[in-house]
Amino acid sequence: MMDPNALTIALSKGRILKDTLPLLSSAGIELLEDPDETRKLILDTNREDVKIVVVRATDVPTYVQHGAASIGVAGKDVLMEHGAAGLYEPLDLHIAECRLMLAGRPGQQPDPQQRLRIATKFVNITQNYFAQQGRQVDIIKLYGSMELAPLVGLADYIVDLVDTGNTLKANGLEPLELITPISSRLIVNQAAMKMRHRTIQNLVEGLREAVTPAT
Ligand code: ATP
Ligand code: PRP
Ligand code: MG
Repeated sequence: MMDPNALTIALSKGRILKDTLPLLSSAGIELLEDPDETRKLILDTNREDVKIVVVRATDVPTYVQHGAASIGVAGKDVLMEHGAAGLYEPLDLHIAECRLMLAGRPGQQPDPQQRLRIATKFVNITQNYFAQQGRQVDIIKLYGSMELAPLVGLADYIVDLVDTGNTLKANGLEPLELITPISSRLIVNQAAMKMRHRTIQNLVEGLREAVTPAT
């Protein structure tokens, strides 16, 4: 078990880790080893009482919800898909910004009268978005490479993250509807926020200043 007094921050490898480290650094927290060089999943920082755990992006809310990490950074897509029970979301970090979109073949306008066949890993978000509009959808759950689905006839549309649009374009697809803008959020375990209010609040404020520098 980890030191129960340690403040554990859950981050995911890749763009979230990369973009969060400079913010943590401005807030006075530095990693003691290079996350790209180590196979360790619990990383020490310059602060004895702060550890960073490295988990899959979709697992971050689970760790924080259960209090296995007090704090985490997760994409709004992941949070919307997972649900926010037991979590506070005090800060938009404005990192890993992109859009969640419906996409399909060029010129293929979704027919409001027809059931849309949509491949996505965002089953809950997709279900809710179309249900709110009273549109019927058949959702096919995938875990990645969604852009392939329309090319091989698995689905007519996809719901996926779009940044530059290069991935869609490379696969002959185009964005059709914006579902929601996405950025990564700081999340905090609700019980930890009460029990360790001062420590966590200090960190939240440090990060807030890093995100929006005083002018
Ligand atoms: P894994 O590689 O473990 O399957 P993942 O693909 O979800 O996980 P990342 O690609 O690092 O992991 O995505 C983490 C978060 O970054 C996403 O939840 C989303 O909010 C955001 N994101 C994903 N793709 C992009 C992108 N192309 N540009 C900007 N932000 C993105
Ligand atoms: C993400 C996302 C899209 C792509 C969109 O993939 O799943 O495929 O980025 O970005 P673009 O519009 O700039 O092309 P990522 O780079 O995270 O790769 P992954 O498949 O490993 O998740
Ligand atoms: Mg990805």
